[in-house]
Amino acid sequence: MKGIILAGGSGSRLYPITKVYSKQLVIIYDKPLIYYPLAVLMLGGIKEILIISNEDTIPFYQKLFGDGNKLGLSISYKIQTAPNGIAESFILGKEFIGNDSVTLVLGDNIFYGYLDFFYGAIADTSPGATIFGYRVTDPERYGIVHFNSEGKALSIEEKPEKPKSNFAVPGLYVYDNQVIEISENLKPSPRGELEITDVNVEYLKLQQLKVKKIGRGVAWLDTGTPEALLQASNFFGVIEERQGMKIACIEEIAFIKKFISEKQFQEVIESMPKSMYRSYLEKVLQEQQEEN
Ligand code: TTP
Repeated sequence: MKGIILAGGSGSRLYPITKVYSKQLVIIYDKPLIYYPLAVLMLGGIKEILIISNEDTIPFYQKLFGDGNKLGLSISYKIQTAPNGIAESFILGKEFIGNDSVTLVLGDNIFYGYLDFFYGAIADTSPGATIFGYRVTDPERYGIVHFNSEGKALSIEEKPEKPKSNFAVPGLYVYDNQVIEISENLKPSPRGELEITDVNVEYLKLQQLKVKKIGRGVAWLDTGTPEALLQASNFFGVIEERQGMKIACIEEIAFIKKFISEKQFQEVIESMPKSMYRSYLEKVLQEQQEEN
């Protein structure tokens, strides 16, 4: 399973900061937004990752992650010349995906809580796609999926005026290799984008679209607006301060998932300036050493 993080976009709702860089670099409490979707891929055991963004922003991601080696990952980069739509990911990522399956996560989507819904989808090797349904109060703003009690999708609609359900499709999608061909055959929508909903509709026509409901134990936060950013920062600030544990701390995840050895973890820590972030990782290492 390969992983793609789509982290470009115009970010117009977050203007003026997005005049300078892409929104996935804004800080959510104590770390850049992109750490959260990257952490989800890592927790799913995905180590080969492609980050897609605009030309100006890719150097910032390269500065953050390099080739991923320090995290036990292989990270590559691809330029999206304009926000031509989410489904363009699979055309830009064609070579990267090769003959494999692929998980796409949007760079501004955060998932927190029991991620078993995602782990199950990755483990499922039957043909097709798995998308998720998350209950929201404002379905007109999202891609909305209507499905029966067995999880069979009946319809999927982008920002419907009269939604058939309250279940929005979050920006986390698990596809088999057919996604490349399906995306290559898409026509741009009236707003000029290759729509991810159209990809999912194709899988629906093939009767290969699985929908898994995400329960109330999971927080899905999308961070496209100033209010949503503030809410997400407060949310993670409260949890991290209360527990003394960090969320989406990618170095910790790399260590705990054994993507890197204890020695490599120590080297990563030593390369950091004195900071709260470093102190936290020192504590993680110390606790692990005391346990062994
Ligand atoms: P959106 O929130 O749909 O769009 P945006 O980020 O451009 O923001 P705004 O609506 O305020 O102008 O994008 C969802 C995510 O997907 C976000 O992380 C940006 C990314 N994206 C791309 O990288 N390329 C694209 O072509 C599109 C449509 C989105």
